[in-house]
Amino acid sequence: MGNYHHLLLRRWILVMVVAVALHAHGGLLAVQAAAQKQLVPCMYIFGDSLVDNGNNNNILSLARANYRPYGVDFPDGAAPPGRFTNGRTMVDLLAGLLGFQPPFIPAYAMAQPSDYARGLNFASGAAGVRPETGNNLGGHYPLSEQVSHFRSVVGQIPPAGREKRLGRCIYYVGMGSNDYLNNYFMPDYYNTAQAYDPAAYAAALLQEYELQLTALYALGARKFVVAGVGQIGCIPYELARIDDDGDDDQGRGRPPPTSGIGLSIPGITVSIGGSGGNRSTANGGAKKSGCNDKINSAIAIYNKGLLAMVKRLNRGQQTPGANLVFLNAVNSGKDLAANAAAYGFTVLDRGCCGVGRNNGQITCLPMQRPCDDRTKYIFWDAFHPTEAANRIIANKVFSSSSTSDAYPINVSRLAAI
Ligand SMILES: *[C@@H]1O[C@H](CO)[C@@H](O)[C@H](O)[C@H]1NC(C)=O
Ligand SMILES: *[C@@H]1O[C@H](CO)[C@@H](O)[C@H](O)[C@H]1NC(C)=O
Repeated sequence: MGNYHHLLLRRWILVMVVAVALHAHGGLLAVQAAAQKQLVPCMYIFGDSLVDNGNNNNILSLARANYRPYGVDFPDGAAPPGRFTNGRTMVDLLAGLLGFQPPFIPAYAMAQPSDYARGLNFASGAAGVRPETGNNLGGHYPLSEQVSHFRSVVGQIPPAGREKRLGRCIYYVGMGSNDYLNNYFMPDYYNTAQAYDPAAYAAALLQEYELQLTALYALGARKFVVAGVGQIGCIPYELARIDDDGDDDQGRGRPPPTSGIGLSIPGITVSIGGSGGNRSTANGGAKKSGCNDKINSAIAIYNKGLLAMVKRLNRGQQTPGANLVFLNAVNSGKDLAANAAAYGFTVLDRGCCGVGRNNGQITCLPMQRPCDDRTKYIFWDAFHPTEAANRIIANKVFSSSSTSDAYPINVSRLAAI
């Protein structure tokens, strides 16, 4: 933390010094252009609702975020753009740090062929590594389909210089949360928990994941940013499912999860507006730090395997010339919670917008009034971080010198390779 602030300060001072120096030469505009120079020619994004920027908008799915108040803080947003947060996602902010100009990397579903060579976002809310993951929420594009979309895009980029260019792009891949939340830990809908123990499930996921990463490699990808799964046993949705005796009730008798749409569920009083209330204190706030340990320990097995896969692919026997960076999302989440006060967060355990216990039983509804100060909340809704939290994580993975944030190097160094 201290180091990180120190680093930011140093960077800021450096920028200011250069800016002042060049301003003296009447070259401020040149500096701004230089400071915002793209560090890589292109960026392609694969993932789930944490990074989706509108690919689900036109498909039949409960996992959609193209309604207010999603995107309420989005700068140029007349229409809610389909991001599952109040403003920018982590990859928007990462793209900004890499020097891409707003609106950063467009959603594949809305992009023009002229965007294809500069980068596309293929991510899809509710998606997972496994094709069936997220089917409880309706349509979406699983990882294999996202990779197929990329394959067809590559075929439309002019071949001259294509291979070299694609090898210099950043490929962000963040998958797995839904393979747990909207598959393994939803036993009424999926049979994976009967078929696999947590170690076998993680192994099956990672085997499929590796196939998709090597498919991207075969299409020309060399610089990968691979995000681990966060502490999803601690998101408001899970906190809301923990019984008063501390057990997870697996959601039985509770409303099904949604990733955001208006639902009328019998037995739940949906009060729209004024969600900044204090309902979580009604159960004593006793579960504030009590996460779902079953989920977190399953995630730990998966993350450990994912890191091992990154290390193996970095050795280059299967994938010569590949550079993969592993983002430790668990560590980032723990840092946000441990240093919440320093980051300006006062609410760690409930969504800024949502319904029920921890604002986590039903996610943010259309036209619902969110909390007033989004910068004080780590979570925007039952599942997803606020832009404020995304910004801290993006800065960290871009520039941290600690391998417990980004392994073995930060994204800034990956870009420079
Ligand atoms: C919640 O309760 C605490 C303690 O009673 C109080 O300080 C805080 O202002 C309340 N927050 C809201 C949003 O009402
Ligand atoms: C990235 O990591 C390297 C090596 O740890 C470090 O020197 C550098 O300051 C970090 N941050 C940036 C922005 O490069």
